[in-house]
Amino acid sequence: MKKFRSLSALLAVTTGCALLLSACGRSAEGGSESKDEKDPTVGIAMPTKSSERWIADGRNMTASLEKAGFSTILSYGEDDPDQQVAQIENMITQGVDALVVAAINGEALSNVLRQAADARIPVISYDRLILGSPHVDYYASFDNEKVGELQAAYIVEKLGLRTGAKKGPFNIELFAGSNDDNNTRYFFDGAMKVLKPYLDSGRLVVRSGQTRLNQVTTLRWDGGTAQKRMDDLLTSAYATARVDAVLSPYDGISIGVLSALRSDDYGSAAKPLPIVTGQDAEVASVKSIIAGRQTQTVYKDTRALARVAAGMVSAVLAGERPETNDDTTYHNGEKVVPALLLDPVSVDKSNYRKVLVDSGYIDAEALR
Ligand code: GAL
Repeated sequence: MKKFRSLSALLAVTTGCALLLSACGRSAEGGSESKDEKDPTVGIAMPTKSSERWIADGRNMTASLEKAGFSTILSYGEDDPDQQVAQIENMITQGVDALVVAAINGEALSNVLRQAADARIPVISYDRLILGSPHVDYYASFDNEKVGELQAAYIVEKLGLRTGAKKGPFNIELFAGSNDDNNTRYFFDGAMKVLKPYLDSGRLVVRSGQTRLNQVTTLRWDGGTAQKRMDDLLTSAYATARVDAVLSPYDGISIGVLSALRSDDYGSAAKPLPIVTGQDAEVASVKSIIAGRQTQTVYKDTRALARVAAGMVSAVLAGERPETNDDTTYHNGEKVVPALLLDPVSVDKSNYRKVLVDSGYIDAEALR
């Protein structure tokens, strides 16, 4: 029978461990008792390996949890919500003591989380909020609205709109993330809050007319889907005009948008590329920024996020309340999930070295 199903069981087993879980983990490494008998196990469900960031998240989560004395089971759902549900079910069957989940479809996990709750397995929602379930204990993420604000503020600044240096009007097109990811609307709302005054005054114009979230989402954040939409926008709305900025919420989407633009001869002196934002500071996009194509990205230190989520697991299993800094914003339809939000940072050509390379997030070699 699996241990640590309840707090009392956990406390009974860990009594006498000076540093609770980490001390127990070390004794298991010492080999006096088998790993299976000693280490509590955490199931980590990640969404996809198609993006570098989630590969790093899985690696960082595993490292942070193992450092704290846990065993781990890591799965990737390959952007298929049913596959992710099956993987989590499997982890529950294997008797994990806690779950850390970055949802593919935020609303698809209610049943499986009920099973987790029945087995008294606490759940940490990782980066993306799990919706429609009361069985979500804590949320570790970044200030998602601020991500959108940083992207939009960058556009406003670089177009010279803020200082009034340039009056416009400038043409902008808007892209958003996957409609089944709760983060999507936070990114979009944050950006639109900044852009709205300029859209209202006509200094920014969306020639396609597609300004509502449901018109601009990109299923599963897919770069190919974004490329196709940008192709269509260029054909339908820019035969006689030029696009000056593209709000892109994520590097994979930015790369798709840039492919469409370059196929339409953007990138020459006569037809410069528009400002294109992004998110995640993925190597391909940082290289693109250095090469003068993508303009900006938003860096989120996923190493820190993993540490926070691992700390939440440790605290919850020890019967403590993890540190949070936002206990009001993230209502998932069933409850407000207490959250710890980290700070995102805007990155462009001027600061990528300091922010990404000097901090060790990206190896300078990878950018050559
Ligand atoms: C979001 C996440 C972003 C980006 C995107 C696509 O949920 O917050 O940082 O990774 O998914 O993977």
